Amino acid sequence: MSAAAEPRFGIWAPVYGTWGARSHPDDPVDAGYRRTRDLLVAAEANGFTSTLLAEHVVSPSDAQAAVLETFTAAAAVAAVTERLEIIAAVKPLLFHPGVLAKLALGIDDISGGRFAINLVSAWFKPEMAALGIEMPPHDERYALSAEWLDIVQRLWAGERLDHRGARFTTEALQLVPGPVAGPPTVYFGGESEPARALAARAADVFFINGRALPETIDVIEDLRARPRGDRAPLRFGLSAFVIAREAEAAAHAEHDTLLALAAHDDRSRLMAGTDKDVAMMKVNAGVPRVGTNGGTLAGLVGSYDQVAERIAAFAAAGIELFMLQFQPLEAEAERFGREVIPRVRALTLAAA
Ligand SMILES: Cc1cc2nc3c(=O)[nH]c(=O)nc-3n(C[C@H](O)[C@H](O)[C@H](O)COP(=O)(O)O)c2cc1C
Repeated sequence: MSAAAEPRFGIWAPVYGTWGARSHPDDPVDAGYRRTRDLLVAAEANGFTSTLLAEHVVSPSDAQAAVLETFTAAAAVAAVTERLEIIAAVKPLLFHPGVLAKLALGIDDISGGRFAINLVSAWFKPEMAALGIEMPPHDERYALSAEWLDIVQRLWAGERLDHRGARFTTEALQLVPGPVAGPPTVYFGGESEPARALAARAADVFFINGRALPETIDVIEDLRARPRGDRAPLRFGLSAFVIAREAEAAAHAEHDTLLALAAHDDRSRLMAGTDKDVAMMKVNAGVPRVGTNGGTLAGLVGSYDQVAERIAAFAAAGIELFMLQFQPLEAEAERFGREVIPRVRALTLAAA
């Protein structure tokens, strides 16, 4: 295995209350801010370096289910943590880029330079319909995201911006104060061709939906081969659901239990509301998994040693940040910090 920098570990904030089965007996669904706050304060002490707050105004699976609001929660978490990188997903359809750039600078200030965005370009049609926002066709959404991101990045760079574009206008707009220590990092979530082209051109870190190592390497190679101009090399993150136990068989038994529980969750509203042109849902469609965004398809199910070895292999292939889901969330995140992070550290030190 070639030497890789020590990977970083993040935890998906439970904005829907859970990323696993909603009927888990030991994991009551709780999308409240206080739960997220306590989870992330503990995660920071337990070796995690990042968190991702997804952005959903309404829950795709159940219109009545509670969802945590992304930016207010990010600002509040910024105030109660000290080292955690706080990544907030943002859909350009919901914010004028000048407003979002300003909001981000506010959280950048509160956090002392620990705030980042994850640019996501919308897939769930009922969310936009409920807000009365017209959802352009798939590829047009990426054209909009491209214009939006260019404005945000130029404002973060301190430009006084006169912009007349297809979608947005700014007039001598300048944001003061600027970032605490350089512009916030731009993560990017999207699978399709226009998503990859835009991420390669303008993002800092490309988030890959969890999948096996060979398929992950294919995605990394595809992104690295695309035009990037003079920007620093694109970096990579991987989303995954972890089930780690002392013994491999116990991890697989737990996976079976979670799969059986998750089978009770009703995905019909989510599937019916998904834009048919979205690539994300077509990756490994029909292959059972626990969790969202690839979940257990990344193969982080096994003994502590196996999970650590697979993480080290992904890291050697170029993944620098693992954004993780667990169930029950608090107990399994604590176990991961205790059992797996030190093993990964030992492996990457040995390979260096
Ligand atoms: C790590 C990751 C996080 C994501 N988070 C969100 C999110 O918070 N909200 C959302 O609406 N979509 C989210 N997405 C979905 C992307 O926006 C999605 O891939 C896109 O809308 C569909 O475009 P595509 O056809 O390019 O995949 C996320 C994707 C990834 C990979």
